[in-house]
Amino acid sequence: MVKRDPPRLSLSFVTSNAAKAAEAATFLQALGIEVHPVVRRLPEPQSERLEEVASAKLDAASDVPGAVLVEDSGLFVDALGGFPGVYSAYAFRTLGVAGLLRLLDGYPRGAEFRTAAALRWRGTHQVLTGAVRGEIAREPRGTNGFGYDPVFVPEGERRSFAEMTLPEKSSLSHRARAMAAVSSRLRELLARPASGSSKK
Ligand code: IMP
Repeated sequence: MVKRDPPRLSLSFVTSNAAKAAEAATFLQALGIEVHPVVRRLPEPQSERLEEVASAKLDAASDVPGAVLVEDSGLFVDALGGFPGVYSAYAFRTLGVAGLLRLLDGYPRGAEFRTAAALRWRGTHQVLTGAVRGEIAREPRGTNGFGYDPVFVPEGERRSFAEMTLPEKSSLSHRARAMAAVSSRLRELLARPASGSSKK
């Protein structure tokens, strides 16, 4: 009898950030999902919620065929009432990591990285999330990764994300957790017949 491999899933990951695509690909490929990066800057609406931003980005990628994934992430610092949160990209460009450290001088360091991933698959539209708690380091450390990685130390670790290899970061990151949720949702969807659109 001929043994067949299980069908491979494949999806397009639309982003302007090559590092994000690489992280998502590392994680999803290990789960048997092929990731094709589509490099494009998608418009982001003003919203207080990452989920809404990710959902709007997915709508803006309506011309990309097949299964499509986009994501939006942010760093939510407890002592700053969740700032920069949905404004993380703006804060990174204007204040930078040094500005964030200055704002936090003398304050508790607790923070959370969050990702909202929006997936279009066979006419359905799903939003899945992932988060990791941690602390903002006193000074930047490490050269790997991107964005706030040099100042984010995930819970249970002494090293910042930027001091970890990509597989190490992906074993506990907000993005990897959102991708794990994407992967299990894809498998659930594959197991049932195609249906109408559902925003969750
Ligand atoms: P966006 O999801 O591309 O809008 O990202 C918001 C901001 O957070 C940008 O400045 C990113 O560089 C930063 N960011 C997003 N994900 C990560 C991450 O995994 N590590 C560090 N910074 C991140």
